[in-house]
Amino acid sequence: MTSIYNMDCHDFINEINDNSIDLVVTDPPYNMNKAEWDKFDSTDAFLEFTYRWIDDIIPKLKNTASIYIFNTPFNSAYILQYLVKKGLIFQNWITWDKRDGIGASKRKYTHGQETILFFTVSKEYTFNFDEIRIPYESTDRIKAASKKGIIKNGKRWFPNEKGRLVGEVWHFSSARHKQKDHGKLIKFQHVTPKPLDLIERIIKASSNENDLVADPFVGSGTTGIAAKNLNRKFIINDFNKEYIELTKERIKNVDIPRN
Ligand SMILES: C[S@@+](CC[C@H](N)C(=O)[O-])C[C@H]1O[C@@H](n2cnc3c(N)ncnc32)[C@H](O)[C@@H]1O
Repeated sequence: MTSIYNMDCHDFINEINDNSIDLVVTDPPYNMNKAEWDKFDSTDAFLEFTYRWIDDIIPKLKNTASIYIFNTPFNSAYILQYLVKKGLIFQNWITWDKRDGIGASKRKYTHGQETILFFTVSKEYTFNFDEIRIPYESTDRIKAASKKGIIKNGKRWFPNEKGRLVGEVWHFSSARHKQKDHGKLIKFQHVTPKPLDLIERIIKASSNENDLVADPFVGSGTTGIAAKNLNRKFIINDFNKEYIELTKERIKNVDIPRN
């Protein structure tokens, strides 16, 4: 199943069969006033909206499913508690260090991070840690260790050829303004696109080929593009018609430039 919907998130989620989704990767509103769709009367109104779509989506998850939810650290503190209350299992609080995406505050430390909560439905879930390894940082030490190994806790340790395991702090440049059209930088048609390589890391780690990936707030289509690149099925949605047109266009041209 591969489908692209253009409706309110609640109606979209209602369309999905129970116990059918392997992975949810979603970047919902943050209540930060970034666009009309990101405005709420209060934190309570925002949380009510958020808790409602979470309630809707839980029955749609398979028992082996994972769910990743983007938000601000402040909102994520509430969302985490709600997911725990709903019986989902906490796996990681991932901090996305946005590198070039930082704000300009002089009254407190500048905002340069977003949170990605990773939860699973049960203790039985996919986690392809070997497929998302990243290069070791201390290259000289690693070069030396690959010849003779390093003694760690009394055992001789050799670095893994594919690189090191991924930790909970992720460094990806923000995607905004970075998309290219025939080699030229263009201002992107969505206010908050996520980096394709970041979404691909999540999909590689937490699903397998032909699994079903869902995103009720797909915006410019990043989750769909990543799923298609990685041969996963996807079911995605956004209530904004222009964004869905953009999503369809981007999914047609799979050759999306990376940052
Ligand atoms: C943070 S953006 C997602 C951006 C996306 N990750 C990307 O890479 O382009 C959130 C999206 O949610 C959509 N949205 C907001 N409220 C919605 C609702 N009630 N139902 C469906 N979509 C909604 C907005 O139109 C917006 O595109």
